[in-house]
Amino acid sequence: MTDSDLDPHAALGDLDPQDWDAYSQALNRVLDSAIKKFQTASDGRVWTPTPDTLKAGFQSALPTDSLDLEALTQQILDLMPYGVGNTHPRFFGWVHGAGAPGNLLAEIAASAMNANCGGRDHVGIYVERQVIDWCRTLFDFPATASGLLISGTSMATIIATKTARDVALDFASRQHGVREARLVGYTSDQAHACLARAFDMIGLGTDALHKIACDAEGRMDLDALRQQIAQDRADGAHPFFLAGTAGTVNTGAIDDLSALAEIARDEALWFHVDGAFGACAITSPDIAPRLNGISQADSLAFDFHKWMHVNYDAGCVLIRDGEAHRKAFASRPDYLAADGTALAGGEPWPVDYGPELSRGFRALKVWAHLKEHGTEKIGRAIVANCDQAAHLGRLVEAHSAFELLAPVGLNICCFRYTAPGLSEQDLEALNSKLIEQIQLSGIAAPSSTRIDGRFAIRVNITNHRTKFEDVEILLEALERLAGDLD
Ligand SMILES: Cc1ncc(COP(=O)(O)O)c(C=O)c1O
Repeated sequence: MTDSDLDPHAALGDLDPQDWDAYSQALNRVLDSAIKKFQTASDGRVWTPTPDTLKAGFQSALPTDSLDLEALTQQILDLMPYGVGNTHPRFFGWVHGAGAPGNLLAEIAASAMNANCGGRDHVGIYVERQVIDWCRTLFDFPATASGLLISGTSMATIIATKTARDVALDFASRQHGVREARLVGYTSDQAHACLARAFDMIGLGTDALHKIACDAEGRMDLDALRQQIAQDRADGAHPFFLAGTAGTVNTGAIDDLSALAEIARDEALWFHVDGAFGACAITSPDIAPRLNGISQADSLAFDFHKWMHVNYDAGCVLIRDGEAHRKAFASRPDYLAADGTALAGGEPWPVDYGPELSRGFRALKVWAHLKEHGTEKIGRAIVANCDQAAHLGRLVEAHSAFELLAPVGLNICCFRYTAPGLSEQDLEALNSKLIEQIQLSGIAAPSSTRIDGRFAIRVNITNHRTKFEDVEILLEALERLAGDLD
């Protein structure tokens, strides 16, 4: 008697391979390609536009039938060259980490386990707790602090601001919303847009986040902050939140976090630090003193996928008052009740610390990455990136065709190409074209921003593969391309 005699669906519902040897060969082909991709990450083009033929392949009809494994494997291999380019040492755009091959080990294991890390008693929960505990140690947070691994700093910021809001309104806001409360918060005008978005998402509105002007170094002006708080109190608003930035996205500036912590204490404000990439510089003894005050934060948001080079995506939120964090999110329906010492045990569950119930085993790649490399090596790579950015800044200053637009405070250099007689508008058009051309050339990939209203070529270095010569190659290529544009 066969299976299908007993169960007419037995042969239909099985998504496992029929031929495990063929499956193993397919997986090994992809694995070989993945290893080769990392091994040759410094070669060839930075970014390659996705070919039209490949794009067209992503407009096909919903598959209703199965594709054979060999064809599927080939389709996966065919798309691998067309990523963002951030594994390459001359990817200088936005703030992207470079990734590391060690992640493959953990991601294969995590995928095979297919664990849902929202809760319950299984090893994924213990791995995540270990990572959070390491983060507490790294940032000198108390043992009572809580934390959660999430997709990135944007999500971490939503969790932190929501907790701060609920603390300010004694948690009644969980049920009633903010009603008439006129909560207002503060950050610098150089802060990342994720803070305003979080204010929007937690029902306060973006106007409730007051942007404080910065000094010439891009750090929040403390007198202006004090004045704004006083003015808001006089106007009958309820100041509740202050966010400092450890590494602004435009120039890498680090706010005076100790001073902000003191102001927050004096004014009874929740003190948050956006350390998306800059907080990771705490792994470097040379840079760590510039982050003094970070350990006094009520909440800290940062990413493993940026300057720590864990593969996308992996961010973290730490909250000093773990009980307040839990109270801001916990709400379990009956079917999720914690129960006994079997699978439904294992409290506390991550689901009580954020908005997601189903969560993948993100913690494994972070845990494995930190074990494989340790914080000292990561810190050395961070210092090297800062030195490279400073080197680029000096080259720009020494070159008559380039103009430095902001001091190089950390790992970001903002500058522009100049030529005599060009208006601001012409300069913007020229530099914008230059960025486009250098990205298309495949030589390097900077991005753009505005510094004091002026359009800038923005070079961010968060890449453990970048060498000093890479920034020299960038500048030479920009000069050559600018000549071609004339
Ligand atoms: C300072 C800063 N904050 C927040 C973010 C948002 O982080 P994520 O993209 O991980 O959500 C970024 C991203 O570059 C950033 O640089």
